[in-house]
Amino acid sequence: MSQAIIFGSSRSFGKTRAVVDALLSPSNTNFFDLNAYAISPFDYDHANRDDDFIPLIEKLLTFDTWIIATPVYWYNMSTQHKLFFDRFSDLLTIRKDLGRQLKGKKLFVIASFGDSYPQGFEDTFKQICDYLGMRYLGSCFFYSGSANQEYLTNNATQARLVGERLSITTP
Ligand SMILES: Cc1cc2nc3c(=O)[nH]c(=O)nc-3n(C[C@H](O)[C@H](O)[C@H](O)COP(=O)(O)O)c2cc1C
Repeated sequence: MSQAIIFGSSRSFGKTRAVVDALLSPSNTNFFDLNAYAISPFDYDHANRDDDFIPLIEKLLTFDTWIIATPVYWYNMSTQHKLFFDRFSDLLTIRKDLGRQLKGKKLFVIASFGDSYPQGFEDTFKQICDYLGMRYLGSCFFYSGSANQEYLTNNATQARLVGERLSITTP
């Protein structure tokens, strides 16, 4: 099973990246830091069609499983990821040929948070998958603070779940 890590944080080497490095040992070939790509906000006129979004999607489509790695910012995914997902609208309009290839791709979410894991955080990802015919594998969430013993204990459980959920290969 081929896996791409799609990483988006306001800092490329912060707490979310530390979680990804510890759990998944990313290589240069399967790790995509959204900070390295010029992805502008969705444009109804598609004047941004030549930025880095479409070439990035073409590369990602060569992988079976997409692992979204994001910090929680204000109860939601990072801005880098929101920009990325907004541009999926291009795949339903000017590049339907690519959009059709999303069907059957698997999506897994790794989140890091520093206060409390937000209610309904996963819902957006589940609904995106339902809408596009992608298969949602679930999420794991990691506490990056130091004060909450219950959350710190939970990190080890979550780490085990990453391995289990990513080993799901059946269609
Ligand atoms: C702008 C901003 C908003 C945040 N909002 C939340 C939040 O809503 N809930 C939470 O638990 N932590 C929140 N945090 C804490 C981060 O989720 C946490 O520190 C995370 O591990 C940071 O990862 P990073 O180093 O990749 O940015 C926020 C941090 C920032 C900078």
